[in-house]
Amino acid sequence: MATRHFLTLLDLSPEELQRLIERAMELKRIHQRGDHYEPLRNRVLAMIFEKSSTRTRVSFEAGMAQFGGHAIYLAPGGSQIGRGEPIEDTARVLSGMVDAVMIRTFAHERVETFARHASVPVINGLTNEFHPCQLLADMQTWFEHRGPIRGRTVAWIGDGNNMCHSYINAARQFDFRLRISHPEGYAPLPSVVEAAGDRVEICPGPEEAVRGADLVVTDVWASMGQEEEAQERNAVFAPFQVNERLMSLAAPDALFMHCLPAHRGEEVTAGVIDGPQSVVWDEAHNRLHAQKALLEHLLARRV
Ligand code: CP
Ligand code: NVA
Repeated sequence: MATRHFLTLLDLSPEELQRLIERAMELKRIHQRGDHYEPLRNRVLAMIFEKSSTRTRVSFEAGMAQFGGHAIYLAPGGSQIGRGEPIEDTARVLSGMVDAVMIRTFAHERVETFARHASVPVINGLTNEFHPCQLLADMQTWFEHRGPIRGRTVAWIGDGNNMCHSYINAARQFDFRLRISHPEGYAPLPSVVEAAGDRVEICPGPEEAVRGADLVVTDVWASMGQEEEAQERNAVFAPFQVNERLMSLAAPDALFMHCLPAHRGEEVTAGVIDGPQSVVWDEAHNRLHAQKALLEHLLARRV
């Protein structure tokens, strides 16, 4: 059987994703009961980070430990990759030593190249274009608070970035409506938008996107690797701040999500992110459970 990878949400079928979210909720209950469940005893995950991380690193490392396995952290600049060893060679070498590899890097093509040369499952821990692991946690969080998301309306406010692209893919796979509002010049990739068909709508302004929405989502204005553009972006993105006024246009029971790290006073006000509609801490905690379900799914037949 061909090795399964998780480079975008499109690598799993809608049915597999649904089962994975349900399994994540079950694994969370097992963990909260204090029960030991170690399906990945003696299994090893290598984690290659070419960008910083708090949540992704800790959730994968803790998840592997709780499953009875082990995770190896390769820091940005801390391996031969940082000195120019071809990613293809690293993929071949690590495939003979570990059971799965997680990568956080810049160009998405880099994880695709790695996966083509790997014989173990490869997981995208964030690229410039996609962040699918975060969407597993976001969908789990929605299901826990509100049940099925099919037919609901989600508003994405801000940059057409990696998180926005993964929300577009989620709209396809989980069958919800996504309304996007972004500043001119910061649109999501047309190919990603077009592939989602009528599930995705680009709105003229944040108010139109948020009106009546069940979930409002935003992200930083300058992503990792865009630090030098931050000042310019702050000015352009200012009208796209998610604040109390914007949230008041959404459905009365709308939830607010943000993958974190957040900048209070920029893309979101403290009143919203620390307010009653925000579920950002559940979102962050669910990274652990959703990724444990993913690891179990990708590695189960090897156990
Ligand atoms: N949301 C997220 O991926 O956080 P980290 O950058 O801390 O991993
Ligand atoms: N868009 C952000 C997400 C961080 C988790 C970035 O790429 O930096």
